[in-house]
This record gives sequence, C-alpha cells and structure tokens, in this order.
Amino acid sequence: MEGSADYAHMLNGVNLDAVVIATGVSSHYPMARAALLAGKHTFIEKPMAGSAEHCEELIEIARKNGLVLMAGHTFLYSPAVRKIQEIVNQGDIGEIRYICARRLNLGIFQKSVNVAWDLAPHDLSIILAIMGEQPISVNCHGSAHITPGIEDVTTMCLTFGHERSAIIHSSWLDPRKVREMTIVGSKRMIVYDDLAPLEKIRVFDMRVEHPPHYDTFGEFQFAYHYGDMYAPYIKQEEPLKTECQHFLDCIQHGTQPLSCGTRGLELVKILEASSESLRYDGAAVRLSKSIGRVAGKTAPSDNTSRVKSPKLLTQRLNRKPGAANPNVVGGV
Ligand SMILES: NC(=O)c1ccc[n+]([C@@H]2O[C@H](COP(=O)([O-])OP(=O)(O)OC[C@H]3O[C@@H](n4cnc5c(N)ncnc54)[C@H](O)[C@@H]3O)[C@@H](O)[C@H]2O)c1
Repeated sequence: MEGSADYAHMLNGVNLDAVVIATGVSSHYPMARAALLAGKHTFIEKPMAGSAEHCEELIEIARKNGLVLMAGHTFLYSPAVRKIQEIVNQGDIGEIRYICARRLNLGIFQKSVNVAWDLAPHDLSIILAIMGEQPISVNCHGSAHITPGIEDVTTMCLTFGHERSAIIHSSWLDPRKVREMTIVGSKRMIVYDDLAPLEKIRVFDMRVEHPPHYDTFGEFQFAYHYGDMYAPYIKQEEPLKTECQHFLDCIQHGTQPLSCGTRGLELVKILEASSESLRYDGAAVRLSKSIGRVAGKTAPSDNTSRVKSPKLLTQRLNRKPGAANPNVVGGV
C-alpha cells in the first residue's frame, strides 16, 4: 500500500483494520476519536490523551463499537519489568515500602508538554503495575529553566495506601542519561537499571529491622542486614515488538489489552493531578473524579499550560487551607 499524508483518506478511503497514533500528545485525542468513530482498533502512544475527560470519551466510543483501545505503556511489555512484577508478586522482597525512579537526560525539549507528561508516564506505568492500585494523592514540584512555562525538571511524589509511596524525578536538564528505579521492600530491595546491558535487575538481600522488644531507649538497636545480591536471568526481547504483537493478538481474539484504555486513563489522571499540584506550588492533590476543576476559579483548562499566574499564586497564598480547591490537601 502506498503512503498517504491525508488522515481522513487513511481512515475512510483505505481498508484498514487498525491505527497506531504516535504523534505529539495534543493530537492523540482528535486522531484517536476519528479512528474509533471510523471503526478502527486504535493504539495510542503514551500519554493516551491530554485530559482524563478525553480518555473517558475514547474509552466509551471503543466500548460502544466493540473496538480494541490500547495505550502505549511500552515498559509493561519489557522482560525486565515483567521479572520485577514476578519477584514482587512472589513475595520475595516482602511488603513494598517505597519506589524511587529517575529518568534523566539532556533534552529532548518538548514545546507543548512538560517533562512530567513526557517522561514520567513510563515510570508511572511501572509503579502502578507494581503497587497494583492508584495513588491517594500526588505532589509535584518543578521548574522551567529553558522554555518559560514548560517545566524541564519535575519531582512527583505519589502517596499510596498502607504507608507506601513513590518518587519520580524527571529531567531534560542533566548531563547523563539515567533510567533507574529502586524498589524497597521490607525483606529485600531491587535496583532496576534499564541502561545496563546485562544485569538490568539486581536484587539486594538488605533490610533494616527494629528489635522485637525493648524496655529502654538504650536497648534500642536497629539491626542492619547485609546479605547476597543476585541478578536474575532476563530473556532479551524487544518491548516495542512484544507490545505491537499484543495489540494484534487482542484484535484477533477480541481481548482486552494489558495497557487498555482504563490504564491509560489512570495514568493521565495522575499527570493532571501533577499539573494541578505544580500550579499550587507542590501542594498535595487528592485523586478524584473532579481533578482538574478548581472550585470558584477558572484554572487553565489546557493541561499542558503550566504558567504560574501571579494572580493564582496570590489567591493561593491568601486563601484558607483547602478552601479554594477541594482536591488540594494540606499545606505546600
Ligand atoms: N513508548 C515509548 O517508548 C515512546 C518513546 C518516545 C515517544 N513516545 C510517544 O510517541 C509520540 C510521538 O513522540 P515523538 O518523540 O516520536 O514525536 P515527534 O514529534 O518526533 O514525531 C511525531 C510525528 O508525528 C507526525 N505528526 C504530527 N501530527 C500529525 C498528524 N496530524 N498526522 C500525521 N502525522 C502527524 C509528525 O510529522 C512527526 O513525524 C508521543 O506521544 C510520545 O510521548 C513514546
């Protein structure tokens, strides 16, 4: 088949079964909506859309028309991440305490989304798969050093149930390329370095324990356990190839993808909350259906716009805690 630069012709004039959308984030929703309405199974690169509302609409159109809708959460198809999930699910590292992810590089600077929307989706998809639930709240700090209003360095903190948490540091302003994640459990700890050619995952038999009983503070001693380290065997497979094959399998068998529209929506809700937190100087934003709406104020409706308006900041500083935005919890 010949290539075409006419998207409408591709959807309606050519006999396609499925569409892959790998354009910039702002065009994901209109292109995916048109594809689904034309009856095409649709794969959308991460993040699935620029707002939760758009994700919900896409999910609904796909559901009504019996079409496969898949989000490009590529790392869920990576053998290393699947091995981490296996280790965690077998209980080898005990109860998860926290996860710390770093995804740093020099560039590539985006014009319409900040670094959290660009890089954090990878870490978020992995963290959500390991934690098995949505976070309760999100804090995000960031700064825009190069392009005004577009944060190039962000630190997102996610609070989960059972006193679990995760930190995601994303940066386009770093001299080294870093793709690392540390998963700290009550029994063992995993270090995942996606750039390591061999030994991408290392499991450390290390932990800290309290003494079971003590009567006085003088008797209180932490017990530091230093055990072995092992690097499990990981089969070499190209995640993108596995992901594409999964999309085809889901179409053929009429099954739900691992990274279905709902997974895409969950991730976008967190990104929206992170943008809202940035607007409120890092305040905790509770994840709820009303995320993105600021009571009594016209918050910027475009999620990709993160210019801190002095007016909003003044209002924030003057308002009573929690009064202006029901989703913003606690102090800054
Ligand atoms: N899963 C991953 O590992 C991964 C890695 C990188 C990028 N991405 C995602 O892939 C998407 C694209 O990122 P990129 O870095 O390749 O961006 P890019 O800007 O380099 O490429 C986007 C391409 O889309 C084309 N395009 C834009 N609008 C179009 C339209 N209306 N019709 C047809 N073509 C159009 C552009 O010409 C360009 O070739 C983003 O959503 C990004 O988040 C995913």
